[in-house]
Amino acid sequence: MFVLVNLKTYPCDPVEVAEAVRDVNDATDARLAVAPQAAHIERVAETGAETWAQHVDAIEHGSNTGHALAESVADAGAVGTLINHSERRLKLADIDGAVRAAERADLETVVCANNPAQIGAAAALGPDAVAVEPPALIGTGTPVSQADPDVVENAVEAAANVDPTVSVLCGAGISTGDDVVAAGDLGAEGVLLASGVAKADDPQSALENLVEPL
Ligand code: G3P
Repeated sequence: MFVLVNLKTYPCDPVEVAEAVRDVNDATDARLAVAPQAAHIERVAETGAETWAQHVDAIEHGSNTGHALAESVADAGAVGTLINHSERRLKLADIDGAVRAAERADLETVVCANNPAQIGAAAALGPDAVAVEPPALIGTGTPVSQADPDVVENAVEAAANVDPTVSVLCGAGISTGDDVVAAGDLGAEGVLLASGVAKADDPQSALENLVEPL
């Protein structure tokens, strides 16, 4: 299972979480990665943790003030990027352009979407993976894999119908090992989570708990 920890703009110490991600990754068969804010990518990548960007824009080098250039996040040490997170929604053309920009910079891509229909559309853009996250469950601690299993199963089916090579992650409310196991049982190849780790008093034990049953 792939466990991708999005730090959003939570006031956690990104290096502390990254060191925990690195250490737990080294101690398990699961693959763990962390997506800090853009300004923290370099420091986080230096820990040796697999580091992702939270967003890149559909742009190239040039006059694009305030944008996130895929090549720059890759230079800073990111190896992948989220695109179209629920809190950073893009127009369809910009999702497509961001996937192409990430490919150009050799970044792995996870395109997020709200529901199975959007997952099908996202898979058609050819990312490495898609992530279904019902917005109503984000940050609630109520896990999508247990509260809304149909959305995960239908997302897996929607992606497979469009492109069986695209992996499916699920996210929203995931915080325990049981939630991760339930996600896997529904066909997801990984989970995307945030508050369960970023807001934990002890991020390392939160991560250990997540991968313990795997
Ligand atoms: O990107 C992860 C996400 O939106 C889910 O957040 O806090 O419900 O794990 P959370």
